Amino acid sequence: MPRLVKIATTGEVAPGQKKLVEADGYELLLCNAFGDYYAISPICPHEEGPLQDGSLVGEIVTCPVHGYDFNVRTGECQFDTDFRVATYPVRVEGVDIYVEVP
Ligand code: FES
Repeated sequence: MPRLVKIATTGEVAPGQKKLVEADGYELLLCNAFGDYYAISPICPHEEGPLQDGSLVGEIVTCPVHGYDFNVRTGECQFDTDFRVATYPVRVEGVDIYVEVP
């Protein structure tokens, strides 16, 4: 059954920023795209590059290893649609940010 886990507060991740967080045993990358928060796996599905070390521009995070780019809202890879990064539902209540993990 999915669980809702508090992972951060809104002041911790400004627009255009991202942060590695832990949620009930899951390591996640929390991204702030234009003021909206998204949580994705920090592991690139191409060859496991560290997405936390990539750039975040708008809704697109780019892997620092080979440059594959992923939409943090949908998980879709813009460069190669065969790849998709895992996404996790995020909920903001007041200043608290929660993520739903399986
Ligand atoms: S490991 Fe991320 S693009 Fe290759």
